[in-house]
Amino acid sequence: MSAVPTGRTPFTPDLRVNVAGIELKNPIIAASGTFGYGVEFEDIVHLDRLGGLVVKGLSVEPLTGNPPPRLYETAAGMLNAIGLQNIGAQAFVDEKLPALRAKKNVVVFANVFGYTRADYERTIEILNQGEGIAAYELNVSCPNTAQGGIQFGSDPHLLDEVVRGAKRVAARPLIVKLSPNVTSIALMAHVAEEAGAAAISLVNTFVAMAIDAETRRPRIANVTAGLSGPAIKPIALRMVYEAAREVKIPVIGMGGITTPVDVVEFMLAGASAVAVGTASYFDPVATEKLVEELTVYCRDHRIERLSDLTGGLLTD
Ligand SMILES: Cc1cc2nc3c(=O)[nH]c(=O)nc-3n(C[C@H](O)[C@H](O)[C@H](O)COP(=O)(O)O)c2cc1C
Repeated sequence: MSAVPTGRTPFTPDLRVNVAGIELKNPIIAASGTFGYGVEFEDIVHLDRLGGLVVKGLSVEPLTGNPPPRLYETAAGMLNAIGLQNIGAQAFVDEKLPALRAKKNVVVFANVFGYTRADYERTIEILNQGEGIAAYELNVSCPNTAQGGIQFGSDPHLLDEVVRGAKRVAARPLIVKLSPNVTSIALMAHVAEEAGAAAISLVNTFVAMAIDAETRRPRIANVTAGLSGPAIKPIALRMVYEAAREVKIPVIGMGGITTPVDVVEFMLAGASAVAVGTASYFDPVATEKLVEELTVYCRDHRIERLSDLTGGLLTD
């Protein structure tokens, strides 16, 4: 811990954190899939106040996603089966990135997915040509169509291969976003680190479902969907704790974060930064608000340097 200011001395807490060799002005990152391509939010959120933003998942070809209904609100959470709808990597580079780059002081992460290793590598090669991306976040929660639908992120060998392949072509640091739908998150974190990840992020959504008892039909057309929001927070926190203990690279924690106390809990569990997803659905300015609230929290709790909290959980 750095020196704690005493008495009533006013001070400005230092919220800066570092992930994958990138300095962020604070640890609050807008999570992938819940913040569009960033530009859609520029009228309501000061993008330059955020630690960073992750754009929605990008693939080689544009995708229209799954048929509706694709969203359903659950107790303290949300189910989604958007199906990774996106405009494709090339259109992102040509149409969205220039507007993002024009904004000063905004750290942009590009989320990448594919259904084969070649998909991931091709998407990254396209994004390599764009300027203004700080790092790639590899979403490994997709079924690998070449391997009969097993998720990349739930098989250690597939994970190793996809990360190594991505690393070989990537001109920027790789953040590997782990799937929580696994038995040992520590093992997957270890595999990602060994394969060359500069950081890991977790958790993605939990496979779940909801049924309408009256109609006897699934609430989501895809039948199963991903659960996010405060409902998953305690599980996400446990997984961040287990993953962070296993690796030396920084961890970006997420899952149900809505308050500055949530941020502090994830950092104590081992996160260097956090991402905020579903909260933006309920309040579009949630991310920026959280930066302000976190500043107040640090002042009130005499936390001079926020990054000192990372891994600070007391267990004895
Ligand atoms: C509607 C929606 C779309 C999402 N799309 C993506 C995506 O494209 N890529 C990805 O890696 N994660 C995606 N996620 C997962 C979130 O980035 C985040 O990992 C997850 O929702 C947990 O955080 P939260 O509880 O704060 O939402 C999506 C989540 C939601 C709710």
